[in-house]
Amino acid sequence: MKLLDTALGKATCFLTVVIVVIAAVLHYFDDPASVKYTSMAEDLKTLEGDFRQHNKSCFILGASGETGKMLLQELLGRNIFSKITLIGRRQLSFEDKAYENLLQEVVDFEKLEDYAAAFQGHDVGYCCLGTTKAKVGTEGFIRVDHDYVVKSAELAKAGGCSQFHLESSRGADKNSNFLYLKVKGQVEAEIEALGFDRYAIYRPGVLLVDRQESRPAEWMARKFLGAFSSVFSTSMSIPIQAVAKAMVSNTLLQPEKKAEILEHADITSLWKSAGK
Ligand SMILES: NC(=O)c1ccc[n+]([C@@H]2O[C@H](COP(=O)([O-])OP(=O)(O)OC[C@H]3O[C@@H](n4cnc5c(N)ncnc54)[C@H](OP(=O)(O)O)[C@@H]3O)[C@@H](O)[C@H]2O)c1
Repeated sequence: MKLLDTALGKATCFLTVVIVVIAAVLHYFDDPASVKYTSMAEDLKTLEGDFRQHNKSCFILGASGETGKMLLQELLGRNIFSKITLIGRRQLSFEDKAYENLLQEVVDFEKLEDYAAAFQGHDVGYCCLGTTKAKVGTEGFIRVDHDYVVKSAELAKAGGCSQFHLESSRGADKNSNFLYLKVKGQVEAEIEALGFDRYAIYRPGVLLVDRQESRPAEWMARKFLGAFSSVFSTSMSIPIQAVAKAMVSNTLLQPEKKAEILEHADITSLWKSAGK
């Protein structure tokens, strides 16, 4: 019995130390709370009305993905564009009537030059494209997350698009030693160099989503961070709805600079201030 008590005592001590270390690490990497956005639900309604009157059009890359799906839903719900085009590698089917006026362009991303017309005439472009190294290997990951994204942005710019909104990632850094963060950082920089009138980069942390596709590492990170963010109120993870809502709300705002970066905390703050 005494032996069991001692073992339990040691285990509790060990667990406490582990939790404190994890809390310290999470706290260290946590973004400072963003004060950029204050409550703006009412203002957004007015901005939506104004925006709608300009009959703008947009395209979405990655609308079949988790964030892209939410973004599309949010754009349809807020009805701020007179035309929405989905650009993807396959035709998507929707049952809901809300989706009936969507346009779709099916392209071969390996020969994007041949599909320049698909990128012509849009005012705003949203990109939620991406894959994982685990799924397609290093080369495949670079092709999708770098080559396809940058080439699409180039074609959109050449086709007259004035705004580009890119879903990147927390920690994106072209000088990083980590392939994922390096590629994300390179893409951010290369698209900035294209000189869109307006360019917004979103850098969310781990996306909270019940993904159908199996991604064990992401699943573990989600479970872990989900549990710890409620205990230590860190902000390492974010629901995909929040990212989608922030992307749409931000489209309506007038940024101070041509190119802006919304860090994880900014996305959360914008989502909350817009009335979730
Ligand atoms: N997962 C996270 O926790 C996390 C965190 C921060 C940032 N991000 C970034 O956020 C972005 C969106 O993530 P997500 O999880 O919403 O994406 P997702 O669900 O994996 O969807 C990815 C989209 O990209 C398309 N795609 C993938 N491979 C393609 C290929 N070879 N050719 C053409 N299209 C292809 C998919 O089309 P199909 O449906 O046809 O496959 C889908 O529309 C990504 O860039 C990701 O790196 C993710």
